[in-house]
Amino acid sequence: MLPSQRHLFDIPDDVAYLNCAYMSPLMKPALEAGTAGLARKAHPWLITPDQFFSGSEEFRSVAAQLADCSADCIAIVPSASYGITTAARNLPIRKGQSVLVLEEQFPSNYYPWQRRAEETGASLKVVAWPGDNDWTAAVLDSLTPDVAIAALPHVQWTSGGKLDLVRIGEACRKLGVALVLDLTQSLGALPFSVRDVQPDFAVAASYKWLLGPYSVGLLYAAPKWQGGMPLEENWIQRANARDFSSLILYTENYDEGARRFDMGERSNFALLPAAVLAMKQLLEWDIAQVSETVGALNRQLANAAASLGFCAPAEPLRAPHYLALRRKEAIPKELPEMLAREKVFVSIRGSSIRVAPHVYNTAEDGARLIACLRRIAAAGTSA
Ligand SMILES: Cc1ncc(COP(=O)(O)O)c(C=O)c1O
Repeated sequence: MLPSQRHLFDIPDDVAYLNCAYMSPLMKPALEAGTAGLARKAHPWLITPDQFFSGSEEFRSVAAQLADCSADCIAIVPSASYGITTAARNLPIRKGQSVLVLEEQFPSNYYPWQRRAEETGASLKVVAWPGDNDWTAAVLDSLTPDVAIAALPHVQWTSGGKLDLVRIGEACRKLGVALVLDLTQSLGALPFSVRDVQPDFAVAASYKWLLGPYSVGLLYAAPKWQGGMPLEENWIQRANARDFSSLILYTENYDEGARRFDMGERSNFALLPAAVLAMKQLLEWDIAQVSETVGALNRQLANAAASLGFCAPAEPLRAPHYLALRRKEAIPKELPEMLAREKVFVSIRGSSIRVAPHVYNTAEDGARLIACLRRIAAAGTSA
């Protein structure tokens, strides 16, 4: 278990920020790294051509440690949707086949498949919310011969339901189904290994559990897809990019590995240093320890909330870092604003109150949320 890391964040004592699944706060040192990076643009004569590559390569190698893969397999992308669209453009699918998604799946891992299905005559096959909260069994049951691609998360974002990706990966390989993962609500807070799961593509935006800035993320592309078509053609993905004086000697050849999938202007001097610093800190904490620490707080909250009539799926079917509380009565839509007035911050997603703490949260933050839930429970449905 990690001790509180709140000192690294700029969170006032009277703020109970339990909303990392919405957006994590940037650590003070990450903010400093990003600010220093932005300031470099004031003196562009000090920015050398090799720096267009060194920062990106550092991002790739730190991201690769988090995902447990080779740095050559990492591309730098602006968003989860960009990574999923890259996968959707490159994986084969034909008329009559289907793409497997979960009920209430996040739109960035839904719309690209809907478009691809429309274009090819394929269809989307939606795994219905399992009554017993066992998403893994529900996915395994849905891998029928028509499924060509399974486009899944590690954690279902409205329930906190955890998928056993090792078992799902094994089943996909056996059946010849391509596996595409959106790890945005899990990477950094839940141990994950490309080597164990063997997905075809996996993406994670950095601004939630990777504690990074907005508008940057990582895309893993398996070696067999690294000859694929990027979404955009830019100079820096090409094999001759390091020689600035020869860029107009146009080449058909791309840089190595997954670099061809990098977004344009990927060498972002402000965002990348902040993202790298945050990922290094996560590695130092160790993801298993982050998961255990945040999980312990959530377990206490889940027990206290259950006594007030708010229930979440039980572990191990629920991811430790992610608590989605439901009750028999509807949750008032204005609840987040009501809590925000008391400086307690959570989200409503679907019909759940989503509670998403991190290593900066204290038992006191949890107690303040429970006090609010107690008042809501006492007030009944009108809250
Ligand atoms: C599961 C999931 N994926 C992706 C995203 C972000 O998507 P994008 O980076 O395409 O904006 C979110 C944001 O809430 C999310 O919850």
